[in-house]
Amino acid sequence: MRWRLWLGERRLRIASGLVIFVYVTSHFLNHAAGNISIAAMEVAVHWQTSFWQSPPATAVLYAAVLVHPGLGLWAFYARRHHGWTAGEIWQLALGLTIPPLIMSHIVGTRLSQTMFETWNGYGQVLARLWVLDPAHGVQQTVVLAIAWVHGCIGLYYWLRLQRWFAAVGPVLLGLAVAVPLLALLGFYRGSVEIQGLFADPAWRAENWVEGEIGTAAQGAVLYQVWLGLLAGYFGLIGLVLAARGVRTWREQRFAGVTVRYPGGRRVRVPLGYSVLEASRVGRIAHASVCGGRGRCSTCRVQVVAGEDGIASASAAEAAVLERIGAGVGVRLACQIRPRLNVTVVPLVPAQGAAAGRATGARRVARGPEERFIVVMVVDMRNSTAMAENRMPFDTVFIVDRFVDAIGRAIRDAGGRANQFTGDGVFALFGIEAGAAEACRQALAAVAGIGRNVEAMNAALSDPLGAAPGVPVRFGIGVHGGMAVVGEIGFEASRIFTALGDPANVASRLEKLSKTWAAEAVVSEAVWQAGGFGEDGRRETAEMAGRQGRLEVRVIARAAGLERDRN
Ligand code: FES
Repeated sequence: MRWRLWLGERRLRIASGLVIFVYVTSHFLNHAAGNISIAAMEVAVHWQTSFWQSPPATAVLYAAVLVHPGLGLWAFYARRHHGWTAGEIWQLALGLTIPPLIMSHIVGTRLSQTMFETWNGYGQVLARLWVLDPAHGVQQTVVLAIAWVHGCIGLYYWLRLQRWFAAVGPVLLGLAVAVPLLALLGFYRGSVEIQGLFADPAWRAENWVEGEIGTAAQGAVLYQVWLGLLAGYFGLIGLVLAARGVRTWREQRFAGVTVRYPGGRRVRVPLGYSVLEASRVGRIAHASVCGGRGRCSTCRVQVVAGEDGIASASAAEAAVLERIGAGVGVRLACQIRPRLNVTVVPLVPAQGAAAGRATGARRVARGPEERFIVVMVVDMRNSTAMAENRMPFDTVFIVDRFVDAIGRAIRDAGGRANQFTGDGVFALFGIEAGAAEACRQALAAVAGIGRNVEAMNAALSDPLGAAPGVPVRFGIGVHGGMAVVGEIGFEASRIFTALGDPANVASRLEKLSKTWAAEAVVSEAVWQAGGFGEDGRRETAEMAGRQGRLEVRVIARAAGLERDRN
């Protein structure tokens, strides 16, 4: 039930944020018309207001304007745990800054129009902002920039894991820069034009009149309304802060629980905290690779005492526990929120990468983080026979050339060959790129490996002859999906790698390439996203631990692969 509520809240936040973002974008485009003239801005604002002031659009916009900041305040109250990322803090802080900065503008335009039927068009607003009160003009410029950055961060977090994001990401980035730049430039040019217009008595006689800008008395009423709204908003923030403080005090005073750890350590936390949060509060190193999202199992603990105070596992937690074959009393520390005192024993040593980002333990250079990654497994065929029939130095020479050919193709395609196991290579694509680009890179690497190995075979055929192992044959397996990427290993032997389904499936596909006498087997999802046309034949393959069969593309000759030109 909890995750369903969370999902609903998240969707509401995205939907309301999108409505506001569309409104802000239309406002920016309106500003951009200032690059032509204030008259052009007036025409644009006419179209903009005729849409946004229509009853349905007004209802949707007002609902979004109430819901989105409301959810921000709620998040400010509800978020308890101590693992806020810098991005989350910035996003919330920027979002909470916008309402007080934008209020005076809304009161002076929309509310004034509604209450007193005034009309504050671009000419009047620009005169107010840039002639009478330039500091206010600067403030509005700042709030526009803040609102835009806040919206772009939100969109990025929402869209970044979409398959198509890598393809359209550069276009979106261009728009994210171009739209506000054009708007600010238009705003600036409008401010220059209004200086001249405002100095003209004829313009003022027509536009700076009480029927347009309102009377002094009306201005005084609006000022009081603005003060009231401002006080109300800061009052709400104060209430949230007070509510957080009261909750923490009550929970610690009346309803805390104690979590005991091996070695006699104990941490007292408010009711509602998870065991992992208790570890963080007590600065007890506790593995948590997924950051407490219930997706990695590294935080698992043996509950030694106090099981009665822990609710039974949710479906999601039960699925993870079943997958790792957890014994009786083993639970995920990030998912259990004891109502009574408990004693637990963390089961995964918290060292290096496994300690995760939020325990305060040593952070690794990169990750661990869960992200989309494409994994490639390459293996040399008949290497055992070659080793048996060739001089050891010849074998080392050939394997070295083979690994070099593979490594170059992977590097040139944009991937990283990060593990060499004798005559096998494990490579990752998408460490620095989005999903679609990762798929393209992996397929380009398959083609590159084919070409490099064929060139190598041609070069070796003369000096080494057609003895076992030459020409060199190989098999490749490629699959992509969500995996935890980060460093694992010991001291200087740490490697950056990916753990999860993509690695297991890629390894299985590499083995299938041998069964099907092919040079590569690529999962269909990677194939489609990579845009390599209709080469190869389609098959389905059974995968251990998966329901249904996996669609794959079987490539007989890797060197023949070509990008789809359509
Ligand atoms: S931290 Fe990953 S499952 Fe608990």
